[in-house]
Parts: sequence; structure tokens; C-alpha cells
Amino acid sequence: MAVSIKSKAEIELMKEAGRILAITHEEMRKQIRPGMSTYEIDRIGEEVIRSYNCIPSFLNYNGYPASICVSINEEVVHGIPSKKRIIQEGDIVSLDAGVIYKGYHSDSARTHIMPGASKEVRQLVKVTKESFFKGIEQAVPGNHISDISRAVQEYAESFGYGVVRDLVGHGVGAKLHEEPEVPNFVGKRRGIKLCAGMTIAVEPMIAMGTYEVYWEDDDWTVVTEDNLPASHYENTILITENGPEILSQAPGIEL
Ligand code: MF3
Ligand code: CO
Repeated sequence: MAVSIKSKAEIELMKEAGRILAITHEEMRKQIRPGMSTYEIDRIGEEVIRSYNCIPSFLNYNGYPASICVSINEEVVHGIPSKKRIIQEGDIVSLDAGVIYKGYHSDSARTHIMPGASKEVRQLVKVTKESFFKGIEQAVPGNHISDISRAVQEYAESFGYGVVRDLVGHGVGAKLHEEPEVPNFVGKRRGIKLCAGMTIAVEPMIAMGTYEVYWEDDDWTVVTEDNLPASHYENTILITENGPEILSQAPGIEL
């Protein structure tokens, strides 16, 4: 399937999915604290999504058993919520979530810093978020996917960080994962040329040390090879004639 151009009506549905997703993240942000289990975070997130009569898009996606991905410290993404996994002081906790509203998806991730976290890890979280904004500055018609990738990579690597290569951003819309792939690093291909009406999830996954990762025995949790912390930040964006527009946001809620 080729890369789809969304109609105005489709974009409105994606904006509503994105608004509800932003509200979901905001509720999790307000409640997350040391002592809580990652299962509790999943309950909070799913409840908000369901309260808007929406569907959590991750639940049962390729067999994923929860609504929210909760990944702590060296876990990069796809941590499975568990009653036994308790958030500790000094942790960074990445929350990744997806909402389906009337058949249309929004996908976004935030990394939260628990009290007592080191200044090194705080910088990692800040730079990961900044690298997203560097990337989407390039999300303009006529540029290529690799222009986004390069901007993310150059910024993150200028701090000595590793840009995770085994997972990438993606098109998003009627499905959670659509074409094209949106890597956070530059390879040999420039990728497709960007056009107004494309909707993509840009999601830097940045590690304090090596970019190499492995999969845990649960077949989901992705962990850094050197066990150093990693951070994740993601939004669903629309490419317009005037540049990028973030769809996974809501009035009065910080990005
Ligand atoms: N959040 C991932 C992404 O951003 C998808 C997670 S799917 C799940 O593309 F099944 F692992 F939850
Ligand atoms: Co995504």
C-alpha cells in the first residue's frame, strides 16, 4: 500500500483521537509516582480512553496484553504493565499509548522523571523531546523522510547519545502502523518525499549509551544492551503546506 493522503474529514477524526490521547497522557502524568505499579498506570490510561468511548489501540495489537506501554530506565519501549513492577524514586518512566476514535488512530509517548533522578538522566529526557522538535521542523512538503531522521540523529548524537535503530516511527491513520517508516537515523535511502496530508508518528528513542538493544523473554520489552537508560518521546503529526501540525495534543495540556 502506498502512503495515504488524509482527507479533511479523516484529519478531524485523527485530531479528536489525538485530543483524547493528550488528555489520557495528562491524567497519567498527574498520577504517576514512586510506589505505584506499572499495572496501575495501565488502568488509569485505559479508563480515560474508555471514558471517551474510544479503544486503546495497543490492547491485543499483535498480542500485546495491555493498553499502555510502560518502560522504566533501561527499558526503551514496550514494557508490559505488571502489578509486581513498582516505580522507584529516581526512575524515568516512558508511557506510550494509542487511541482509536471512529476508526482513526493517534499514537504518542511521554517520558516522566521521578523525584531523585540524576541530572544526567534529566538531560537525556529533555534532549529526546527536543530532538522530536528538531525532527518535525523538517516535516515540510518537498523534504524527504531522511531530513526528519537526520535532524533527530544529529541533535541527539551531538550530546553523545545513541539513536535506537531497531525501532522506527511510522505512518498512522486508519491503522496504527502505516507506510512510510520514519527512522530516527539516516541510512542509504532518503525515503519518500513528504506531501501535505500525510500523517506520521515521529518518535525518537534515545539512549544514554549504546544504541544497541535486545528483546526480553516476554517478546515485547526492548532493553538497551548496556543497561543504560533510554527515553522516548512521540507525537502524531500532520504535514501541511505550512509545515508540521501536532495532532496528539489538547488545549491547555503541555506537549
Ligand atoms: N507504541 C508503538 C509505536 O509507537 C506501538 C506499540 S504496539 C504495542 O509504534 F502493541 F506494543 F503496544
Ligand atoms: Co508509534
